[in-house]
Formats: sequence, C-alpha cells, structure tokens
Amino acid sequence: MSEEASQKKWVVVTGASSGIGKELALSLQQHGYTVLATVRTATDHEALKRLGLATLTLELADEDSVVIAIEAVRQRCGSQLYSLINNAAYGQPGAVEDISRSTLEQQFAVNLFGTHQLTCGLLPLLRQNGGGRIVNISSVLGLVAFPWQGAYNASKYALEGLTDTLRLELHDSPVEVSLIEPGPIRSQFRHNALHAFEKDIDWHHSTHHEHYKRITGYYSASDHPTPFTGTPADVMKRVHHALRSSRPQPRYFVTLPTYVLATCRRLLPARLLDALLRKLGAMR
Ligand SMILES: NC(=O)c1ccc[n+]([C@@H]2O[C@H](COP(=O)([O-])OP(=O)(O)OC[C@H]3O[C@@H](n4cnc5c(N)ncnc54)[C@H](OP(=O)(O)O)[C@@H]3O)[C@@H](O)[C@H]2O)c1
Repeated sequence: MSEEASQKKWVVVTGASSGIGKELALSLQQHGYTVLATVRTATDHEALKRLGLATLTLELADEDSVVIAIEAVRQRCGSQLYSLINNAAYGQPGAVEDISRSTLEQQFAVNLFGTHQLTCGLLPLLRQNGGGRIVNISSVLGLVAFPWQGAYNASKYALEGLTDTLRLELHDSPVEVSLIEPGPIRSQFRHNALHAFEKDIDWHHSTHHEHYKRITGYYSASDHPTPFTGTPADVMKRVHHALRSSRPQPRYFVTLPTYVLATCRRLLPARLLDALLRKLGAMR
C-alpha cells in the first residue's frame, strides 16, 4: 500500500462516466472520501481527472480487466479501501424470445459476473479495513418484472439474490452489504439501452415488430422522462446513509415507483400484479 493510502478513506465507484456513478463519485469526493472512479475510455479518464477524481480502467465484461483493476485497487488503497459501490451496468431491452444466448450472456457478464468477480477480489481489503461497505446498485426491476426487459430483469434479480446471500454470509464480519433499488432516474441509461437494443435485437424481423416501434420512441425520448423520475442525487442520499450509518439498511428504495411496486408485489395476487405490470410496460 502506498504512503498516500494510509491517510485516506477510499471508495471505489464503478461506472462513473455518467449518470448515477458520476454523481456518486463527485458527491463522495466532496464529502471527504477519496474516490477511485472506474471508466472505460480515455475521454472519460480525462474528463473525470479534470474534475479532480482519481480514475481506473474497468471493463466488467472482460475477466482480465477486472483482475488488473483489483490489483490496481490493492496497490493504491490497500486496507484503506472503505467501500465498493457496484454501480456500472446497462439495460438490454428486447422480448425474451428475441434475446440470443450471447446477448443474455453479455448482459450477465457486465451486470453480474464482472460485478461478482470485482466484489470477491476486493472483499479481503474491505475486511482488513475493519468496517468496509459494499453497496450494490440494483433496480426496481430487481424486485418486479417488466415486459421487454427480460435480460436486464434477470440480471438484477440475480444481483439481488447474490447480494442477499453475501449479506447473510458476512453477518459476523465487519463488512456491511446494502442494495439500492432506484426506479427511473435521469441518466444516460435509456440512451445506452437504445444502443444495446439496436445492436443486439433483430427487431425488424420479430413478431413484436409493432411493439418495438413504441419502445424505440420511449428510449429515444430521454428528454421526456416517465412520471416520478428521480435524479442521481436521490440515489446519493441513500448511498450516504449506507456508508455512514452504524446500521446500514439491507435495502434502500429510491423514487415513488419503487415504494409502490415493492408494496404491490407483497400485497397483490400474482395475476393482479401481472396485469398492473403489463399496463405499466405498455406505456413504454
Ligand atoms: N437510470 C435509471 O433509470 C436506473 C434505474 C434503476 C437502476 N439503475 C441502475 O443504476 C446504475 C447506473 O446507471 P445509470 O442510470 O447511471 O446509467 P448510465 O448513465 O448509462 O451509466 C452506466 C455506467 O455503467 C458503465 N458501464 C456500462 N457497461 C459497462 C461495462 N461493460 N464495464 C464497465 N462499466 C460499464 C457506463 O460506462 P460507459 O459510459 O463507458 O458505457 C456508465 O459509466 C446501473 O446499475 C443501473 O442498472 C438505473
């Protein structure tokens, strides 16, 4: 560990080039943490460095990239690594029957396998810290399903399961584990999802062709957010609590849609919940 690390409380934030991750990185830095922000391009390295952040390259789909990032964090932060915030992810839209095996594998490679590999690699440092925090950014779609979101839904359900198990297993350790479950948040998410949709779904030849015309409209209209869309700052408030509280919550809901849909999931019979989710999905 470097001399520099011994005086600092380091936080690694993945996916800090835009949206929630960028807000988290900047806000945490302002609140006295030393942030190591992960990005994928030279342009994003430069942009974040200009904002005073230390950066690290991380491509979650690439096993070697994750190995290199783990070693870099070990060198830079050592046991002063206080928190890992697993934020980086993308949404792969498309009907379940139109998602190829390789497209589903790619979704899991980023949203689950890379995240899992990074977490396991950094866990020894968080343990040594004596009070480390793992914060996984999930989604309302880790709690309920939406039509046309099967790949993303599955990856976030899997992240929820893995995180819940990890929390149970770390109960007697100094490391706390929390999930953040945002509803719609203003970011580059829809823009990036549209890109994934156009790249990986052969929608012109799909049975769902007509529906997809509406979907592309929804994803293009990032300036017209759905009702109750929140901001990255709303996510930040919950992350601050997860990092500062002596008893961080296992789950943090963000935005009204998450509270409402989580309650519906608990109270409604499955068919009624399906009818509600179909209706909400049809608005997209
Ligand atoms: N926005 C929402 O409505 C919403 C709602 C619920 C949950 N979430 C969750 O919030 C988190 C942040 O999303 P966001 O809304 O801020 O979206 P965003 O603006 O698209 O940011 C996603 C970040 O993840 C990075 N990323 C994507 N693929 C990656 C990969 N293969 N390897 C490493 N990094 C990768 C992106 O980097 P590049 O710029 O290089 O692509 C970007 O920095 C995600 O976990 C998302 O699932 C978002």
